Amino acid sequence: MTDQLYMEMNDGYKIPVVGLGTWKSEPGDATYNAVLNSINAGYRHIDTARAYDNESDVGRAIKDAGVDRKELFITTKLWNKDQGYETALEACEKSLARLGCDYIDLYLIHWPLKDKRNESWRAFIELQEKGLCKSIGVSNFTIDNLKEIEDRFDILPAANQVEFHPYHYQRELLDYCNSKNILIEAYSPLVHAKRMDEPRLVSISQELGKTPAQILIRWAMQRGMIVLPKSVNNDRIIENFTVFDFDISDSVMERLDDLDERYVTCWDPHNPPPYAPV
Ligand SMILES: NC(=O)c1ccc[n+]([C@@H]2O[C@H](COP(=O)([O-])OP(=O)(O)OC[C@H]3O[C@@H](n4cnc5c(N)ncnc54)[C@H](OP(=O)(O)O)[C@@H]3O)[C@@H](O)[C@H]2O)c1
Repeated sequence: MTDQLYMEMNDGYKIPVVGLGTWKSEPGDATYNAVLNSINAGYRHIDTARAYDNESDVGRAIKDAGVDRKELFITTKLWNKDQGYETALEACEKSLARLGCDYIDLYLIHWPLKDKRNESWRAFIELQEKGLCKSIGVSNFTIDNLKEIEDRFDILPAANQVEFHPYHYQRELLDYCNSKNILIEAYSPLVHAKRMDEPRLVSISQELGKTPAQILIRWAMQRGMIVLPKSVNNDRIIENFTVFDFDISDSVMERLDDLDERYVTCWDPHNPPPYAPV
């Protein structure tokens, strides 16, 4: 087992650098086993969401894992239909019940829904004051969305979870978040498995004797991000966590930076779907 690394958020809480993603992990035993296997492999950070419909399976697994709750870091997210002040407060209580937890380590606004995000953030600040969420943050927020929070509230998000990998290297957003002490959490860090055979990545992987997935995860770590690889396969869960025992040199990091092609695998807040205006 490799040692977990941590980063500190702007509210003083520590967050494990590599967390298990659970989007598209089937509700039921698939999610339960993935979470349990990940904790056995050394992960201490699990990323779920109301929208993934698997919070209760995450909750069962963390209860059965035999690891002190205080050692685990659980993130979940407020779904769009629950955005707003009262509805966000209620949704948090429901997520806590499904997770079987007294508190959420990091609660995120899943999407910067126009007209609702500010009221949701007001509720999030209250949830943090009440201790129901230790840290609060956002997801899929653009620089403009973050500036809007900054203009209206005293509390800035601890993290912004966005799509981030070398094929979608959002430098401007990363620089902005770094300047405000907002951590970027890289989602779809494995490019949703759509670039594993890409020749330049394969070539670097062979040079370093590491798998493409390990290279992608390590790149995000060395660029100062939290990384959330998803897998339901135990071998790949272990592979994705074996990333603490090597470094990528500066010159190879630059070659990885050059893979950028603004490739978006998930939803894009700069080109939002009609059902979720930003
Ligand atoms: N906030 C948001 O809006 C948002 C959006 C997207 C994602 N996320 C979060 O970020 C997490 C990760 O993103 P993601 O699930 O989109 O994609 P990802 O982690 O980039 O890729 C997951 C895919 O890669 C495969 N895979 C995993 N490890 C592998 C390996 N070592 N070698 C080859 N293939 C491998 C997985 O299959 P197997 O499971 O079969 O291994 C799955 O098909 C999500 O699960 C979720 O927690 C958040």
